[in-house]
Amino acid sequence: QSLLILWAVIGYLLGSIPFGMVLAKVMGLGNLREIGSGNIGATNVLRTGNKAAAALTLILDGAKGAVAVLLARALAGEDAAQLAGLAAFIGHIHPVWLRFRGGKGVATFLGVILALAWPVGLALCATWLVTAALARISSMAALVAAATSTIWMVLLGHGQLFALGVALTLLVFWTHRTNISRLRAGTEPKIGQK
Ligand code: G3P
Repeated sequence: QSLLILWAVIGYLLGSIPFGMVLAKVMGLGNLREIGSGNIGATNVLRTGNKAAAALTLILDGAKGAVAVLLARALAGEDAAQLAGLAAFIGHIHPVWLRFRGGKGVATFLGVILALAWPVGLALCATWLVTAALARISSMAALVAAATSTIWMVLLGHGQLFALGVALTLLVFWTHRTNISRLRAGTEPKIGQK
């Protein structure tokens, strides 16, 4: 039991590293809070015009979730892995370093699921990519990927992730609440638009 709490803490700390914010600062791209949506994720880093920084943010925000899962799984098993993944996601959206005002969690969600069950992770990435290709809107792609995540879990034989999938999906919809208002109003910007 105490070991599980330890993995929650490790997962949280890994997830709370705000790579987008750090990269934007180090690369001289400005303060993400004053750019676009004000979010710290790859989509908003792309609004600085620096594609490499956006790609790196996506990879690192995903990797921190995957590392949390893989470390916990290797040292403490499957329950610890799921808990570490959830904690990493929560770390990204509520990092102690940014006074708990973090990101929306999409890259970390993908990294966590890829590490827990790669076929489901690949299905989610494909869902994101197809929706993004059709709609050209990042938040829409994220919402569709999240909303279909439990379906993919069941279809691909990973029903053990169902409860985690429901929790992550609800949190993704919550973190995208302003995006959802903009989508409904038809004012959500396309990918790369300011
Ligand atoms: O990954 C976050 C994305 O879905 C929305 O980002 O900056 O458009 O709010 P943003």
